[in-house]
Amino acid sequence: MARITYDDQTAAAYKAVREIPRDGLGEWREAIRRHLDPSPGMTVADIGAGTGMFAAALTDWFDLSVVAVEPSAAMRAQIPRRPGIQVLAGDAGALPLPDGSADGAWLSLMIHHIPDLEAASREIRRVLRPGAPVLIRQGFPGRADTTSTFPWGFFPQTTRTTDTFPTVERTCEAFATAGFRRDALEPVPETLTTLADFLARVDVFRRSDTIMRGLTEEEFLQGKEQLRRAVREAEQASSPGTRTNWLDLLVLR
Ligand SMILES: C[S@@+](CC[C@H](N)C(=O)[O-])C[C@H]1O[C@@H](n2cnc3c(N)ncnc32)[C@H](O)[C@@H]1O
Repeated sequence: MARITYDDQTAAAYKAVREIPRDGLGEWREAIRRHLDPSPGMTVADIGAGTGMFAAALTDWFDLSVVAVEPSAAMRAQIPRRPGIQVLAGDAGALPLPDGSADGAWLSLMIHHIPDLEAASREIRRVLRPGAPVLIRQGFPGRADTTSTFPWGFFPQTTRTTDTFPTVERTCEAFATAGFRRDALEPVPETLTTLADFLARVDVFRRSDTIMRGLTEEEFLQGKEQLRRAVREAEQASSPGTRTNWLDLLVLR
């Protein structure tokens, strides 16, 4: 069962505040290029595609054919409908793709929602061609420095939730049961909008985010106050207070 319900309100909030501006994803573009070795028309399964941020980026960047698999009807409704993107209902344990039909799988910020990682690994193995990579974009417990990683530095109690996410080791063990081996693990930076922009949207952000939803009201308000201070300091320093973050790319084959 998913940790939160991706209903209409959550999906709209996700689309409004969680999607990263394309300019901030340049390092992801290069990391995906290195590990996927994309060529036009290649098929990639975007599993747990959400509102389609990466489905759209993958088609724009590399002219790929993306199968966006997403269990929530509300999230699916937000995925752009256009050539190169096929939107299908399904989940990681039951993928609506034929055997050996995909040249890669893209799983972004979703493995913590998968109820049975071993079953999902077998299903991903089934739909991938031999040797095709699984690319996982994720914050793994113990990897990110939560005191400096945005936005968790403002909300340190979010580790209560992130510590329950699958570790790199657990993920590799689960995928090993389906014959996958770890190929690479690298942190990839991304640039978000400004601190002031985040402050303006933090209430909506909280509604769409599994990690922030775990905070008590008091913890959230304390973090928001710290964020307000950081915005003031950035204004006094005439700095835009750009938000940077990094997540891991784990590649399995
Ligand atoms: C945090 S969102 C990430 C969306 C998108 N991948 C992105 O990076 O913007 C997590 C998504 O995983 C989906 N999800 C939840 N359980 C899933 C499962 N078992 N299999 C596939 N997707 C799932 C949710 O519906 C939600 O859209």
